[in-house]
Amino acid sequence: MGLLDNKIAIVSGAAQGLGKSLAERLTKEGATVVAFDVQPSINNVFAGNTRIKPLIADVSKRADVEKVIATAIALGGIHVVVNNAGKWKKTPVTSTWEQALADWDEIMDTNFKGVMLLSRAAIPHMIKSGGGDIVNISTYYVLPARSDGTNPPDTDLYAASKWALNGFTDAWAKSLAQHKIRVNALCMGATDSPMLRGLFPDKKLPPEMAAMVMSPDAIAGQMIDLMRDGRTGENIGAWVGHPIELPPRKAAHLRMTD
Ligand SMILES: NC(=O)c1ccc[n+]([C@@H]2O[C@H](COP(=O)([O-])OP(=O)(O)OC[C@H]3O[C@@H](n4cnc5c(N)ncnc54)[C@H](O)[C@@H]3O)[C@@H](O)[C@H]2O)c1
Repeated sequence: MGLLDNKIAIVSGAAQGLGKSLAERLTKEGATVVAFDVQPSINNVFAGNTRIKPLIADVSKRADVEKVIATAIALGGIHVVVNNAGKWKKTPVTSTWEQALADWDEIMDTNFKGVMLLSRAAIPHMIKSGGGDIVNISTYYVLPARSDGTNPPDTDLYAASKWALNGFTDAWAKSLAQHKIRVNALCMGATDSPMLRGLFPDKKLPPEMAAMVMSPDAIAGQMIDLMRDGRTGENIGAWVGHPIELPPRKAAHLRMTD
């Protein structure tokens, strides 16, 4: 018996990288998954997996998100939302004003507004379904106690977009606890994905990174551990070179940054 037998999950940005692994892992726990992405390749990547319903959709567009929600409802409700779709971009603080504004729209529309759109559209249905989990895919940047000195200084907008998730994670965890909806964030360091590989020539990880980098499947395992554990309102770190396991539960006043 799986943790998510007869449950319906939604994963954004599922055509590759972390989202693909997260969607596949959810099906191994028994869930049926609406997996969507802006890339048309979403229609092919899960070929043969009858538990995955692929959709081309942009999480930053309300009409697309409504299509995703309607698809999940037709399957039987919504129990899990994984806000994974994300864009990473270098936006040095010295870049031009015009560049900064363009990058703001590109990054915030997906990383921040998209999380609001998808989650707020799903929450009423999650309440009707009796509760579940919202998992925000964040970054180790928001855990300064562990990442001090390592945050790339030229990714201020990306960093800000992920810090913004702290607000949603914390506020939703508190207000949705009464509906048995847990809200947490996974905040990992370097994880092997097309996004990470895109930072290097020929998309090849440097040997020292290749030896240590975390795998999307390992992070997917941590997500399932998190759901099984039942905690809410926490940013869960995963660190290159360390076991990918849940830390002890935190006291409420330490939850967000420790
Ligand atoms: N890979 C890492 O090292 C790492 C570390 C920390 C956090 N993250 C976060 O993990 C998440 C997944 O990253 P990844 O490394 O797998 O990246 P990736 O670029 O390989 O995959 C992201 C997917 O999201 C999709 N996407 C982008 N914008 C979208 C939109 N508006 N609507 C729908 N889909 C959209 C892309 O098409 C892509 O398939 C992101 O939120 C990222 O910020 C990644």
